[in-house]
Amino acid sequence: MIEQPFPAGVVGLGLMGTSIATCLLAAGHRVVGIDKDAARRRNLKRRVSALLRDMRREKLLSKEPASVLKHLSASDDFGALRGCGLVIESIFEDLGEKREVLRKVEDAVAPDALIGSNTSSLPVTELQRGARHPGRILGIHWGEPAHILRFLEVICGDETDPRNAEKVMRLASLWKKEPTLVRRDIRGFVTNRIMYAMLREAFYLVENGYATIEDVDRSVRNDMGYWITMAGPFRYMDLTGIPAYAAVMRGLLPDLCRSQETPKLMQEVVASGARGTSNAKGFYAYTPAEAKRWEKRFLDFSYEIRALALKYAERPKR
Ligand SMILES: NC(=O)c1ccc[n+]([C@@H]2O[C@H](COP(=O)([O-])OP(=O)(O)OC[C@H]3O[C@@H](n4cnc5c(N)ncnc54)[C@H](O)[C@@H]3O)[C@@H](O)[C@H]2O)c1
Repeated sequence: MIEQPFPAGVVGLGLMGTSIATCLLAAGHRVVGIDKDAARRRNLKRRVSALLRDMRREKLLSKEPASVLKHLSASDDFGALRGCGLVIESIFEDLGEKREVLRKVEDAVAPDALIGSNTSSLPVTELQRGARHPGRILGIHWGEPAHILRFLEVICGDETDPRNAEKVMRLASLWKKEPTLVRRDIRGFVTNRIMYAMLREAFYLVENGYATIEDVDRSVRNDMGYWITMAGPFRYMDLTGIPAYAAVMRGLLPDLCRSQETPKLMQEVVASGARGTSNAKGFYAYTPAEAKRWEKRFLDFSYEIRALALKYAERPKR
């Protein structure tokens, strides 16, 4: 059974909240966006409109963007969420703030409305603590750009009612996702655990002079970059010979970085004020125009890799 669209809310209209709202609108939901920042609320329609036009051009949106956009509104009042069957929280990564937002959402919506957090790393069980109806709170972890990627992780906290997780898994097909169910709560879920293990090792190699930032990026792009969209780690081992991996693991695993600290280079770059392409300051040097070009390239590539991944996707068994 495919769920029907109902009014949905998004709290936090930053980078991710904007693309999540776009995805929900494109899937037919009426969307209420909440943000405490007036500029974010003011710019919402303009930003979503641009993303919808791209989706239309890429044939991911069957309706005219303007007819979809009129179902979007923005407010700083959580009361505007009344009537929403689903609310997704996507404010910055802070446990206390997120709990506070979830409490305000619970005050506004019906007891059976679903509430998802787009946390990247906080345990969902921690977010459920103190909630009035914790069974309807779950992790709904999107990837950026959320309106293009097929990625979605649905995470059960200790108190999540599994029927609610199943409901979100069904909704995900309406959102054109290929979702993963994370059955037991674990910090970082699936992809962030794997990605951060990779990031730690990337910093280790650079900080210890084994390779430059450019060389690490080049190797990863040209090796994992060529197979990971199609295969995933386990299929890849099937395709390339399992015993060799066992042999390498014996020697290599004890040698990998196991540091528990945030890498020094990361701390320095953050302290310098770098936010990445959004302020044209990152691990690489950018002029503002170059930063914009990279952002556009990233979006264009996301559409193309989506099409390529779908072309090579395993057909579901009948
Ligand atoms: N950026 C990514 O690629 C990515 C990927 C997956 C998950 N996430 C997660 O998504 C969440 C949001 O990330 P982002 O990059 O979009 O952040 P962001 O900083 O771009 O946006 C956060 C927004 O939340 C608003 N906000 C903060 N506190 C609020 C409150 N109490 N009430 C209403 N609005 C509030 C801010 O004004 C801001 O507009 C984080 O939990 C992050 O870990 C991010």
